[in-house]
Amino acid sequence: HAATWNTLTGEAPVVVAHRGASGYLPEETLGSYELAIQLGADYIEPDVQMTSDGELVAMHDATLTRTTNVADLFAPRNDGYRVGDFTLAEIKQLTVKPTGALSRPDSTYPGFTPSMADPYTVPTLDEVLGFLKDFNTANGTSVGVYPESKHPFDSEKNGKIIASLKNNGFTAAADKVILQSFAHQTISDLTSLLDTNGMEAEVAQLGSVRLEDGVYGVNGTDGFNTLETIAGVATGVGVGYTGITEAFIQAAHGFGLTVHAYTFRPQTEEEAFSMIQPLLDWGLDGFFTDYTDLGRTVVDAQ
Ligand code: G3P
Ligand code: CA
Repeated sequence: HAATWNTLTGEAPVVVAHRGASGYLPEETLGSYELAIQLGADYIEPDVQMTSDGELVAMHDATLTRTTNVADLFAPRNDGYRVGDFTLAEIKQLTVKPTGALSRPDSTYPGFTPSMADPYTVPTLDEVLGFLKDFNTANGTSVGVYPESKHPFDSEKNGKIIASLKNNGFTAAADKVILQSFAHQTISDLTSLLDTNGMEAEVAQLGSVRLEDGVYGVNGTDGFNTLETIAGVATGVGVGYTGITEAFIQAAHGFGLTVHAYTFRPQTEEEAFSMIQPLLDWGLDGFFTDYTDLGRTVVDAQ
């Protein structure tokens, strides 16, 4: 084991289960989140979309087609299958399909039996948080949650994310919440909503690493922001791993920002080490992976 980590806090880097154990099971489902926890996730990641009746669901895409059987059950609306054109009751009728590179068509993972009745339907954010809170309470664990407020910027949606966290008892630093968005406007909004509600959570600006006029920053969906600007409203950055350098990590750490990398999709243990290890040596604070077990193995080997 390494004597010290080069992370901002000196603690071990965190393994984030990107959309759950999405490399193996249908993404963003309770079954996928449960397997991710069993495989050693420090955080589970739900992306957040809003239904036509204003409910929050765990879903990456703005449309239902890639991950569910919606086209078998419903005709298209407004020429498509946008999440925002369907009610929660309708979305609850859908089954989520396995899409990961190492997933099986029958949605099984060797040795894993989901504990819930419908492991591969679309959960609400409330259901994800309720599941996690119950799991942590029953097992004495402290697995965290890393919700992403998906575009477009919508303060109503952000308010509902904060309310859901509050209602499910995720209000203090010990509850391990990291909020994330590609939109700087959403980051500012989430930070002020946390303040207003007296809640403690980390907040991460997503985007790609960029050096502009010799100054490091992150390019999100609403443009470039310097690390200094980001540090005014966020606690960390989440950036595409291919753009990360040691100098970027050191610059971010200099502003008190953690650096998390997305998204590692190694298919073997050997590949996991070669992809992730160099960034851990540089002081990476955490990373998103579809293959929780492979990420865990790399961190635990240090
Ligand atoms: O939040 C990090 C990562 O999840 C961003 O990519 O497209 O999978 O949400 P995406
Ligand atoms: Ca995400």
